[in-house]
Amino acid sequence: MSLLQKLYLRLVRSTGSVTAANEHMLSDLDVLAVFWRLGTNLLRGSWLKLRVKSSSGLLLVGRGARILNPWYLSVGHNVKIEEGAEVQCLSRQGVILGNGVTIGRGACIRPSSYYGMDPGQGIEVGEGSAIGAYCWIGASGHVRIGRDVLFGPRVVLIPENHNFDDLEATIKSQGVTRAGIEIGDNCWIGCNVTILSGVTIGHGSIVAAGAVVRGNVEPYSIVGGVPAKLIRKRTANEELCVA
Ligand SMILES: CC(C)(COP(=O)(O)OP(=O)(O)OC[C@H]1O[C@@H](n2cnc3c(N)ncnc32)[C@H](O)[C@@H]1OP(=O)(O)O)[C@@H](O)C(=O)NCCC(=O)NCCS
Repeated sequence: MSLLQKLYLRLVRSTGSVTAANEHMLSDLDVLAVFWRLGTNLLRGSWLKLRVKSSSGLLLVGRGARILNPWYLSVGHNVKIEEGAEVQCLSRQGVILGNGVTIGRGACIRPSSYYGMDPGQGIEVGEGSAIGAYCWIGASGHVRIGRDVLFGPRVVLIPENHNFDDLEATIKSQGVTRAGIEIGDNCWIGCNVTILSGVTIGHGSIVAAGAVVRGNVEPYSIVGGVPAKLIRKRTANEELCVA
């Protein structure tokens, strides 16, 4: 094993993500490419760290990622914001990304309107959680995502609804009602899921790909469909428990 490969393995082990499969996989060229990417992302992250509200360790920022109003952003250690992601931080309670959080490529977190005219509540993402590529998270109502939550690509969270009772006025002119969204620890949200305003998803739950969730989800449930319904409960021995 070359020196580069040994260095790479030490690095991977230090993040706790080494598996038998990646122990001997990478050539020297691969390792160099990884180090180059890490180095440039680290440089961007170090520049961002000078401007955030608080940060407690390594911050990696990919090419083309945009962090707006970073003085409302608090980050833990080993946080990754990937290529082309946009995190707009202006909000009443700020944007808090816990240790080891990943914001995937092209994902967008937006608590406020683009120019910040009407600041939203903000968002807290718990330790070890990963927001998938191209997710859209509005955070006008407060969004709380627990620890070790996995998002597939293109998940959409919408914590507000337009008011529409008055037939004489435009929907646009009637304002919005904001209700937060809460996702418990250790959940898996499949790709293309939409979660609507006011929803709480209990810990340990799975939302199947393509679901639209408009009601609360009990802990350890698997839900799917439009609107999402219980598929089954997760049980210790994985016995089938049909709704
Ligand atoms: C939900 C999921 C985890 C499978 O769970 P499972 O308990 O193994 O489900 P099964 O495949 O045994 O299917 C059980 C029932 O759920 C239904 N179901 C499964 N996936 C569904 C989906 N995405 N939407 C609606 N219903 C679904 C099945 O049709 C089946 O219904 P039936 O009993 O009436 O035939 C999987 O289908 C899924 O959606 N995974 C998400 C993948 C993803 O987005 N990955 C992103 C990478 S992080």
